[in-house]
Amino acid sequence: MNTTHSSATTDALHAAIPAEEAELSRSSSVRSIYVYEAPVRIWHWTNALAITVLCVTGYLIGSPLPTMPGEASSHFLMGYIRFTHFASAYVFAIGLLGRVYWAFVGNSHARELFSVPLSDPNYWREMGAMFKWYAFVGPRPGPYVGHNPLARFAMFFVFLFTSVFMVFTGFAMYGEGTQMGSWAERLFGWVIPLMGQSQDVHTWHHLGMWVIITFVIAHVYAAIREDIMGRQSVVSTMISGERTFKD
Ligand code: HEM
Ligand code: HEM
Repeated sequence: MNTTHSSATTDALHAAIPAEEAELSRSSSVRSIYVYEAPVRIWHWTNALAITVLCVTGYLIGSPLPTMPGEASSHFLMGYIRFTHFASAYVFAIGLLGRVYWAFVGNSHARELFSVPLSDPNYWREMGAMFKWYAFVGPRPGPYVGHNPLARFAMFFVFLFTSVFMVFTGFAMYGEGTQMGSWAERLFGWVIPLMGQSQDVHTWHHLGMWVIITFVIAHVYAAIREDIMGRQSVVSTMISGERTFKD
């Protein structure tokens, strides 16, 4: 790779961004970089599936279907819906724990989801440039090997925060069903009085679903838009792990 080209301004900028990106913008020979390791990719798609099931079943728990004929115990419709919600909830929560573990043992990109360089002025500058790019009023900043600055912000403050919130409020309500003394009640029961009473937890948990749905709509839009308009691979990167560069 050619790393000889430099100027005072580009070097000052490169000092604040990861080495891979500095190298990439100086070199014309880099074609692809391995970014997302297999556990991150498997987690991403399993997590996306679990969240889809949680949203559909959660919505039906909050707004049940019209009354079914016959005894509830003979068709057990809400029972199956709740069971599916709880089964995916375990997949979602255990997946999140696994993802935290991988941040410790995986590559540097595996840690991006868990931190935002808020104190770095360059980060905010690039965030502004990214906003302009998404608003169709500025050129594309980057290239970025991992997440772009805006994606990083949304993934941490919207996705990760809300996910942890859903796990705490979800298992607190689950603990009401498994009753006093159960592990769920002992670990998460304190959330209910903290938020008021059971109905408040239901309402906030319900609202959390719409925050996650909003994130997913923006996220899928951005991923597909970047794949078409950016000069690097995006969706296929979450499948193969490789970021390929068109320029
Ligand atoms: C992205 C994640 C999740 C979404 C989108 C979601 C969505 C929902 C929604 C919309 C409701 C209905 C609330 C209402 O209006 O009363 C609900 C209920 C519930 N959720 Fe979740 N949920 C998620 C994660 C979890 C987790 C991790 C658990 C943990 C076990 C959980 C357990 C529950 C329980 C126990 C109920 C109440 C069931 C009932 O009252 O019959 N949820 N969920
Ligand atoms: C419930 C649905 C989804 C959720 C909650 C979700 C969440 C996430 C999260 C948290 C990350 C960061 C991964 C990490 O650093 O570990 C991510 C990355 C990514 N997601 Fe999703 N995702 C969803 C669906 C999708 C779909 C349907 C697509 C494809 C159209 C997609 C494409 C991507 C891509 C390409 C990346 C990597 C972005 C980059 O290269 O910087 N996601 N997603």
